[in-house]
Amino acid sequence: MDEPKIAVSESREHATDANTAEPSEAQQQSNAASLALARSQAKLADMALGHGQHPEEGRETVFDISEFSVAYGGKTAIRDVTMEIRKNLVTAFIGPSGCGKTTLLRSLNRMNDLISTVSTTGTIHYHGNDLNAAGVDSVEVRRKIGMVFQRPNPFPKSIYDNVAFGLRLHGLKDDLDGRVERALAHSGLWDEVKDRLKTSALALSGGQQQRLCIARAIAVEPDVVLMDEPASALDPIATQRIEDLVQALKSEYTIVIVTHNMQQAARVADMTAFYSVDVGTDGHRSGVLVEFDATSNIFVRPSDERTEAYVTGRFG
Ligand SMILES: Nc1ncnc2c1ncn2[C@@H]1O[C@H](COP(=O)(O)OP(=O)(O)OP(=O)(O)O)[C@@H](O)[C@H]1O
Ligand SMILES: [Mg+2]
Repeated sequence: MDEPKIAVSESREHATDANTAEPSEAQQQSNAASLALARSQAKLADMALGHGQHPEEGRETVFDISEFSVAYGGKTAIRDVTMEIRKNLVTAFIGPSGCGKTTLLRSLNRMNDLISTVSTTGTIHYHGNDLNAAGVDSVEVRRKIGMVFQRPNPFPKSIYDNVAFGLRLHGLKDDLDGRVERALAHSGLWDEVKDRLKTSALALSGGQQQRLCIARAIAVEPDVVLMDEPASALDPIATQRIEDLVQALKSEYTIVIVTHNMQQAARVADMTAFYSVDVGTDGHRSGVLVEFDATSNIFVRPSDERTEAYVTGRFG
């Protein structure tokens, strides 16, 4: 008695699959994933388009980088980079780990001088002057071109002394209190710390410490602020604050930011440089600049398929 019933029910089940095309659970999940990916791509494109197609137009060149290569102990880390970084824009460096983003960033304020094995070829002109020419004072270079690192690195001093540190170092001692207050206000930290300026900076949260490091960098009135993954160690809310800050600071400073976060690049950067790792016939890996363009072009119509693969998350 049971046999035909089972047969009917089985055949109905097959009929449902084959004829009504109701997707299986796995298909539904895969469709949902594709939809989510498409939505996130559309959101990225939307954010990137907000910066316009020619943000660099009419802007003064701050860094003119030409055929620039860096090697550690004779081994090339990044090679033949040619690009211009323009004033009052946010320029993002993106690309897979090891492609030389930090190496190039550190070359922009001569931080690489501190590594004995480094050698370079090519040139970087900063406002028309060779950054690496003999006689250029690297301490003065680092005042003009400040740096914020991946991990907040406040000195084990008070909040006040952290911000005042560079000011004292560079002899900018007139109106020290006013300068400290302005730097903290600019970095969006003043209201949170004004009542405890003399307490240790190490007691601040990670996000506050990073904003303090930004205050320390901008207190000496630099021209450029370099940021190496400044939000990668922070939670989403602290990250958002750093991104807002980057946007607010670009009216006064030229900003170069390294990020692994595509949304962050699309959100904050006017221009984006995508670097990749090239593997030579001898197996040596070195970074190359694949594409440098308006962020809207990099995210919406990249001209190189390696860029497209990276920004759409199919690589790296
Ligand atoms: N101080 C150093 N001494 C020797 N080699 C180094 C040094 N710093 C970086 N390198 C090498 O140079 C290459 C580029 O490194 P770099 O840190 O610039 O890459 P990156 O793009 O910033 O990577 P990540 O995204 O992981 O931070 C790598 O092969 C790295 O091992
Ligand atoms: Mg790095």
